[in-house]
Amino acid sequence: MQCSWKAVILLALASIAIQYTAIRTLTSKPFQLCNGGCDDYPYFSLNSSRKTHILVLATTRSGSSFVGQLLNQHQDVFYLFEPLYHVQNTLIPRLSHNSKTMNRRVMLGASRDLLRSLYGCDLYFLESYIKPTPTNHTTDKLFRRGASRALCQQPVCDAFGPSDVNVDEGDCVKKCAALNMTLATEACHEKRHVALKIVRVPEIGDLRALVEDPRLNIKVIQLVRDPRGILSSRIETFRDTYRLWRIWRATGRRPYNLDLSQLTIVCDDFLSSVSTGLSHPYWLKGKYMLVRYEDLAKNPLLKTKEIYDYLGLPMDKNVEDWIHANTRGSNEPSAKHKFGTVRDSAANAESWRLKLSYDMVEHTQMVCHKVLQQLGYKAVKSAEELKNMSISVVQDKTFVPFL
Ligand SMILES: *[C@@H]1O[C@H](CO)[C@@H](O)[C@H](O)[C@H]1NC(C)=O
Ligand SMILES: *[C@@H]1O[C@H](CO)[C@@H](O)[C@H](O)[C@H]1NC(C)=O
Ligand SMILES: *[C@@H]1O[C@H](CO)[C@@H](O)[C@H](O)[C@H]1NC(C)=O
Ligand SMILES: *[C@@H]1O[C@H](CO)[C@@H](O)[C@H](O)[C@H]1NC(C)=O
Repeated sequence: MQCSWKAVILLALASIAIQYTAIRTLTSKPFQLCNGGCDDYPYFSLNSSRKTHILVLATTRSGSSFVGQLLNQHQDVFYLFEPLYHVQNTLIPRLSHNSKTMNRRVMLGASRDLLRSLYGCDLYFLESYIKPTPTNHTTDKLFRRGASRALCQQPVCDAFGPSDVNVDEGDCVKKCAALNMTLATEACHEKRHVALKIVRVPEIGDLRALVEDPRLNIKVIQLVRDPRGILSSRIETFRDTYRLWRIWRATGRRPYNLDLSQLTIVCDDFLSSVSTGLSHPYWLKGKYMLVRYEDLAKNPLLKTKEIYDYLGLPMDKNVEDWIHANTRGSNEPSAKHKFGTVRDSAANAESWRLKLSYDMVEHTQMVCHKVLQQLGYKAVKSAEELKNMSISVVQDKTFVPFL
């Protein structure tokens, strides 16, 4: 059988009937080995084993933009911010009539195929998911294009010179012309490594086919954060979706129709993912590192060095400069320090304690108690303990990469 995954995805997009074929093909055998005869992969050159394919596996509001930046700033890395956004946007409306498990399978199959293509710098493949469909390989609809340094630089964008090191995401989108995917593809090929950040794959087990793909050299960085912090951050950020949680916080009474799955999904996914990762299955050997957001916030430079050691890459000056510029204490009120100061970001990592009520925390601790324990996040036993910031609830715990 030939490598017809591209066709499979396009057909899946085109018709519900054919989706079932797609589902079978995508799940029965996640991908076929193309013993030398795989014309779909001209870009996987003999040197591909030397290329590192970095995957940041995270969830929303877990600090993944920060980790993404630590990779994005490296001059040898081509970085994309959440390319799976487009898959979800395109597939979800078409899948709504199927069962949840079926949808999940189609999503995951499509996601793995897209990730595989992107690691090979095939950015045209992404075009099938972008709406409106790009014409002449040009689009201004790539999600968070400005978060990708290589897409805001020459030769992809002429608006900024080599001296503009810290191009603001909004400025990039404003000043660069529509994205020429051909140039983006070339920029990707020119970089030694490719890093992708995703928040739309529930757990590491879902990526096994990708991790085991012999054409890839995947290194997973699983980013976790205290679920209580994630909840608090989501309540602030996704105001509509988490409206009932805000009502709970404001009134002290839990709304009867509160969607508890918004919390349980985070904890269940963390638990299964982290349990898999830390049980060291052979297929993850050398390919898995668990990072707690709080450790990174407390000690960004040291932790980033550990991450680069694990990746087997030298950390370059750009990365170090970026950490200094974005995490060091600064009293300039005008400074745009999105990620707070070193001291502040360490405190920030626990600022949810001042924002959530004790009964919300207590509830979270009950639902998530296993994963809190596993990751070294201490449960608080009273409102006083919750609000007493002189005692951290993040326990010292070392997670060494699985080498
Ligand atoms: C592989 O890398 C070597 C050394 O960097 C280079 O000379 C060669 O052209 C590369 N081969 C391919 C197919 O890219
Ligand atoms: C795409 O390119 C063709 C040939 O250069 C041109 O005729 C056409 O107008 C272009 N389409 C758009 C939407 O720019
Ligand atoms: C995109 O860039 C390529 C490579 O430089 C060029 O050949 C092509 O004409 C560009 N496309 C558009 C629509 O400008
Ligand atoms: C906070 O905890 C510390 C250490 O247990 C304790 O000494 C201090 O009195 C507490 N502060 C408040 C306001 O309860």
